[in-house]
Amino acid sequence: MITLHTIAELRAALNKERAAGKRIGFVPTMGNLHEGHLQLIDQAKANSDVVVSSIFVNPLQFGAGEDLDNYPRTLVADQEKLNSRGCNYLFAPTDAEVYPNGRESQTQVEVPEISDLYCGATRPGHFRGVATVVAKLFGMVQPDVAVFGEKDFQQLMVIRKMTEDLSLPVEIQGAPIARNEQGLALSSRNGYLSEQELETATVLNASLREIEAALIEGNKDFDSLIESAQQCLETAGFKRDYLVICRSQDLQPATSEDSQLVVLAAAYLGPARLIDNLQINL
Ligand code: PAF
Repeated sequence: MITLHTIAELRAALNKERAAGKRIGFVPTMGNLHEGHLQLIDQAKANSDVVVSSIFVNPLQFGAGEDLDNYPRTLVADQEKLNSRGCNYLFAPTDAEVYPNGRESQTQVEVPEISDLYCGATRPGHFRGVATVVAKLFGMVQPDVAVFGEKDFQQLMVIRKMTEDLSLPVEIQGAPIARNEQGLALSSRNGYLSEQELETATVLNASLREIEAALIEGNKDFDSLIESAQQCLETAGFKRDYLVICRSQDLQPATSEDSQLVVLAAAYLGPARLIDNLQINL
């Protein structure tokens, strides 16, 4: 695997690949890679000829007081993991390479409506930062296909809408959530948790599974399903962020008429804010 740090180097390398007729697959990340990221690489590899991954901890998507400074940066270990899965290029730019005129004067990409819900309500400006950096990375890499994890379900929808609204010639693919044996969704932020908290963290997915079981049995009292899941999370030691049963096509709160659902959850556990979701087709 070749690691590149500048846009000029990246363009030169990928222009050659394109000229040779290669289809480019892209997996953008913020590094500190785990098995979930590596499964995105596998999916990109199965759908392209040349796989590019990026590692860039994007300051634009972190709010004041969030974990930008402490976000784990593990480039050497990440390079080894990417290499072992057959990734061809790693693009690891500096802040100055991505935002050469500073962040203040950067043109930003705003995906309306969906960006203000749920994670966007708790983290104002977060999805503007994500959409902006992903649009820029698409301009740098010019991939044919890009793969994103479904753990960040709302992010995936924001990116799909941005790509469609800006007519970007990139196929967006979602990849299933990778989980540990206890059902905990893999996340770089799990690394903030103690052994004890890691056990408690499994309650998040278990709560979603309980909602799923109740919905499949025909329970349509969404409010009480949510409230009892929230109680269960709080008893386990979580602090509330949000938990919603919504329509998977537009993330609006579901009604009893809807059948394509996704339960989205975010909650604080010790030093970490964890998210998870479950798609349910009734
Ligand atoms: O999901 C992530 O790791 C980031 O939000 C992304 C898509 C790489 C943009 O910085």
